[in-house]
Amino acid sequence: MNFETLLVETHDAVTLVRLNRPQALNALNSAVLADLITVFAAYETDPAQRCLVLTGSDKAFAAGADIKEMSQQSFAAMYGGNFFAGYDRITACRKPWIAAVSGFALGGGCELAMMADFIIASETAKFGQPEIKLAVMPGMGGSQRLVRAIGKAKAMEMCLTGRMMDAAEAERAGLVARLVPMAELVDEALKTAAAIAAMAPLAAIATKEAVDAAFESTLTAGIRLERRLFHALFGSEDQKEGMAAFVEKRAGAFKGQ
Ligand code: HXC
Repeated sequence: MNFETLLVETHDAVTLVRLNRPQALNALNSAVLADLITVFAAYETDPAQRCLVLTGSDKAFAAGADIKEMSQQSFAAMYGGNFFAGYDRITACRKPWIAAVSGFALGGGCELAMMADFIIASETAKFGQPEIKLAVMPGMGGSQRLVRAIGKAKAMEMCLTGRMMDAAEAERAGLVARLVPMAELVDEALKTAAAIAAMAPLAAIATKEAVDAAFESTLTAGIRLERRLFHALFGSEDQKEGMAAFVEKRAGAFKGQ
């Protein structure tokens, strides 16, 4: 697949997507969004692809939504056109994906990273929601996902002051799953993605659905959903294979059936 703003490779069952607008520190314009929608749709519908890694450059995962593209927009264009709603197509992806963040993840860049199932970051990563400095505010989920990730006090402080959080603080605060040296970021993310890709795909989808439901439901409803999904996996061939493989002391080979 060839894209104007992305570089896409496959590594066996893992799709690696690199944001590629170095001249604008990977600022997210409408071309990036259109390309991301296409690549996520292709990933979702390809049963051979079982995990995806989204990364940027060493200097920037993404320095935000494209300020130059937005600067002259009217209320009617933003509200009437439901600006940023296209990102709902990415968060609707049911299959697992990881954000691998090095350098700046600011504004929409931080928000895009938080749309991932989890973030692996390099020691140089810097996260922030600086929109308030532009007299706006987070518009791609930051005011909601950051609160859920790191709690109200830190999220509110970051959104009101626009300050950046370095990688160590982001790990302590629970925004990122793991920190790795910058030179190893993509390899580590690919290794983690390969480990997920080796799991039964239906179990991965069900796990993601259940964990995501923790933010959308009561404890009782979430536990009921979890139990039903757990029960449902006993209808899969992969469950038989997974448990047989354990008993026979071998690796399971999963088909997504
Ligand atoms: C458009 C951007 C950009 C952005 C950087 N660039 N960020 N272009 N939109 N968000 C461009 C610069 O204009 C410049 O292009 C080139 O990338 C390199 O950036 P520099 O500023 O020269 O680099 P540096 O000095 O290293 O500073 C890096 C930086 C800074 C600290 C990340 O670029 C910065 O503060 N960027 C804006 C961060 C931000 O406010 N993000 C939130 C955006 S709003 P030229 O052509 O001049 O060389 C947002 C909205 C979300 O995300 C939803 C609510 C509306």
